[in-house]
Amino acid sequence: MQTKLTNILKEAKELLANATGIAEAEQVRIRMLGKKGKLTEILRSMGTLDPEERKIIGQAANNVRAEIEARLTDRFADLKQAEKGLKFEAERIDVTEPGKQRPLGAKHPISVTIDEISGVFMGMGYSIAEGPEIETVYFNFDALNAAADHPSRDMTDTFYIDENTLLRTQTSPVQARTLLKQNPPIKIISPGRCYRCDTPDATHSPMFHQVEGLLVDEGVSMSDLKGTLDSFAKQLFGAGVKTNFRPHFFPFTEPSAEMDVSCFKCGGEGCRVCKGSGWIEILGCGMVHPNVLDVGGIDTEKYTGFAFGMGVERIAMLKYGVDDIRLFYENDMRFIGQFK
Ligand code: DAH
Repeated sequence: MQTKLTNILKEAKELLANATGIAEAEQVRIRMLGKKGKLTEILRSMGTLDPEERKIIGQAANNVRAEIEARLTDRFADLKQAEKGLKFEAERIDVTEPGKQRPLGAKHPISVTIDEISGVFMGMGYSIAEGPEIETVYFNFDALNAAADHPSRDMTDTFYIDENTLLRTQTSPVQARTLLKQNPPIKIISPGRCYRCDTPDATHSPMFHQVEGLLVDEGVSMSDLKGTLDSFAKQLFGAGVKTNFRPHFFPFTEPSAEMDVSCFKCGGEGCRVCKGSGWIEILGCGMVHPNVLDVGGIDTEKYTGFAFGMGVERIAMLKYGVDDIRLFYENDMRFIGQFK
């Protein structure tokens, strides 16, 4: 029995010394002290010994158990420490290593331009109205006083979805919708996407953006229109620009005009941007046609209004000197990232 005990202690010491991890040390514990462990077996068989011997062997077995337990505790602690050390080593961070550059996104130049235009009008007390991009023929054309044979209704200009539905060709239908929904005084702008059946080239895109504007109140005149849009042009292009209104035709306004600004690049001398004329056309406008006010249920005896509409891409191209509209839709970060 004594020899057995000595061997058990020796084996336990050896096994523990060779254990390379906590799991292995646990195996040693089970092998020696577990239910079917070597020492447990000895302690169980003590009943067969005579009392005198039982006392001596019992004492010795308990000493061995205490010794093994103490060594187990020490070894567990050592191994735990070692495993922690390995873990720390594996997770070590080199704080001197240079950081990874994560590219930051940028606001799209079209959004930047819409924000700038909207900012100017919001400063004048306009609020933002919205309308659907999938629009009815009624709101896109009929409610806007467009003649039944108006060329813009043509299949070659307009994306029709069916007989009564299309992708809006302008933001002007938001005017008609707003007139139906709101009572004067009305003072809104409406930025948004428009679609026309154009083949893409440097100045055309089948999808583009406009900002529409509408003001209806008592006693609104053409001079209010001119004052408002002149102030807008000065805020957007610089206090030095002059504006010029040329008579034009739009079905939904009467009278109608196009507004030019004096070239903000050359100051009116004539350059590449203004194509030598000193002037740049930037928007269409006019006094809201009574037929349009009628459709909106507005009393035309009491109220008058003005409206305007501008192409966002065109303004962005002029303002930022972009010479190809297609650059706006390629989403090349080297281009997009330049507009802050
Ligand atoms: N809808 C016109 C276009 O797409 C732009 C426009 C002109 C809008 C005059 C207006 C306006 O509200 O009064 O060419």
